[in-house]
Amino acid sequence: MNTPNPLAIHPDNAVVWHDDRLYLLDQRILPAETVFVALNSAAETARAITDMVVRGAPAIGITAAYGVVLAARDRVRAEPASWRDGVGADIELLAASRPTAVNLFWALERMRRVMAVLDAADPVPALLAEAKTIHLEDVAANRAMGDFGAALIQGPTDIITHCNAGALATGGYGTALGVVRSAFAAGKVRMVYADETRPWLQGSRLTAWELAQSGIPVTVQSDNVAASLMARGRVGWVVVGSDRIAANGDVCNKIGTYGLAVLARHHGVGFMVAAPTSTIDMSIASGAEIPIEERSPDEVLACGGKRIGPAGVGAHNPVFDVTPAALVDCIVTERGVVQQPDAEKMRALMGPA
Ligand code: MRU
Repeated sequence: MNTPNPLAIHPDNAVVWHDDRLYLLDQRILPAETVFVALNSAAETARAITDMVVRGAPAIGITAAYGVVLAARDRVRAEPASWRDGVGADIELLAASRPTAVNLFWALERMRRVMAVLDAADPVPALLAEAKTIHLEDVAANRAMGDFGAALIQGPTDIITHCNAGALATGGYGTALGVVRSAFAAGKVRMVYADETRPWLQGSRLTAWELAQSGIPVTVQSDNVAASLMARGRVGWVVVGSDRIAANGDVCNKIGTYGLAVLARHHGVGFMVAAPTSTIDMSIASGAEIPIEERSPDEVLACGGKRIGPAGVGAHNPVFDVTPAALVDCIVTERGVVQQPDAEKMRALMGPA
């Protein structure tokens, strides 16, 4: 029998647990180089998240969950009587790796809960089972969102997407790109326009690579093209993912998303957010409470590793922005679709706290 190579270069293989190690497809250098990075500890895992070896909200959460497994393995070996304290410290380290995507904290909380009820001298099997469950549930959620989202699209139409909310950013299949995949399979997608997404170029490097691999027509555009493209009247939808959605339906996503939402409303283009319920943070009332990561100005002042800004000039590098719920036409989750989101509809989706 042929078993698929777990380390095959494929968009669904952004995060792979294999032979007691965690492998990440290095998203900093895709598509020019296709290389897996092997991780052996929680500290290496936290560093990989901070450094963007892996990125995208659900993928960060899944990676952190496997990072807890690595932590448990090391701590049980080094300090069998007090591994809980050590793993607790490693969870804190993982939680500090990036501030905005709530999936990170959600996944760590699930791991913490498993740990809390474990009596075993060896916590690794139970923690690994939970990490794998988080991973598999994410793929299933993406498939469900794909169906829900595709059903809303009247095709054939052109779609704009921003950043990468695809297989690479998740456990597989993708959130926004999961909707695109399902809509394409239903004959509803003429062309996907992938915003370049400065400064990390998740659109021109990752989304374009991922869609091309799947045979879905994709065109890259720089981040300032969307308005004129919408004005031509062929774009039916903007479809994006999210890093955190507040209890009132405000949507935090890659910087530039808010501008797209304003443009979409002006041009009568639909604005769809596809995100699993693990991205919804009912503990915050509005997007104003979401911590927005600021990264180094060097990321903006350089391009392709080459400095382009003049010496002595600074740069503003917020990584995410918040789109007010009033500009969002629908939030697509694995539990169903929230049209014109507001606090009441989000509460109905998520159920009592
Ligand atoms: O900085 P990144 O690349 O981690 O940002 C990723 C995004 O903004 C994605 O759109 C979001 O995480 C949704 S991924 C399914």
